[in-house]
Amino acid sequence: MNDLIQQYAKRLKLSWIREHYHEVNARNYEEYLLKLFEQEIAQREKRKINLLLKSATLPNKYGKTFDWKDIELGQGITQTDLLDGKFIERKENLIFYGGVGVGKTYLSTLIGLNVIRKYGMRVKFYTVASLVNQLLEANEKGLLNKFFKQIEKLDLLILDELGYIPLHKQGAELLFQVISLCYEQKSIIVTTNLQFGQWNHIFGDPILTQAVVDRLIHHSRLILFKGESHRLRESVSNRY
Ligand SMILES: Nc1ncnc2c1ncn2[C@@H]1O[C@H](COP(=O)(O)OP(=O)(O)O)[C@@H](O)[C@H]1O
Ligand SMILES: [Mg+2]
Repeated sequence: MNDLIQQYAKRLKLSWIREHYHEVNARNYEEYLLKLFEQEIAQREKRKINLLLKSATLPNKYGKTFDWKDIELGQGITQTDLLDGKFIERKENLIFYGGVGVGKTYLSTLIGLNVIRKYGMRVKFYTVASLVNQLLEANEKGLLNKFFKQIEKLDLLILDELGYIPLHKQGAELLFQVISLCYEQKSIIVTTNLQFGQWNHIFGDPILTQAVVDRLIHHSRLILFKGESHRLRESVSNRY
């Protein structure tokens, strides 16, 4: 009988029940069944979250608590709103602007982790360079549509480090396609060290740049990471 239970549980994909059904104590049939279902569901949820965390490819180097001191959120939004992904429900984008080493990647990672764990959202983290490389590769292999379909499934796309390297024409155009695909459908967090006025240097072409900026900043919030002023202060104090 035990063998059959194992076999049927496997066919029905009840993996928690298959392994643990004999350990559950209950006073009656209903309680027993209820406990089995509850545990099976809990395990499935856990597995789902782990899969989502894995496929999000978030950096996992951050440990210490996040310091909000130098971060300017702007009006009408709180730290909790950000961490809870309120902007995702509204399909808004976030632009994280600031110098190097001020927590842009860190905060985008925290938000990603939080909305996966709390709401089971689909998140994907890319550096712009790696996304563009993957787009070029997919394009070469004729797999671009498949790639776009993956992006269409997301709730939140994180594009880290826009502006660190200029893009080639085809790369810039493919990135634009991704941003267009997400426009008013998904939320994007972009981290950047360049002001919009300088995005021309990334995309190369003023018309394309304008189109990218339009799509990104329509329905978006600018979050300022004031570390740049720290760097400025350092460079000034070094000079005198
Ligand atoms: N606001 C912050 N709170 C806590 N640690 C921070 C903060 N900003 C930066 N750090 C630390 O500095 C490092 C660089 O942060 P990161 O988010 O990678 O910066 P960037 O703005 O360049 O993306 C991180 O490893 C983190 O430990
Ligand atoms: Mg960074």
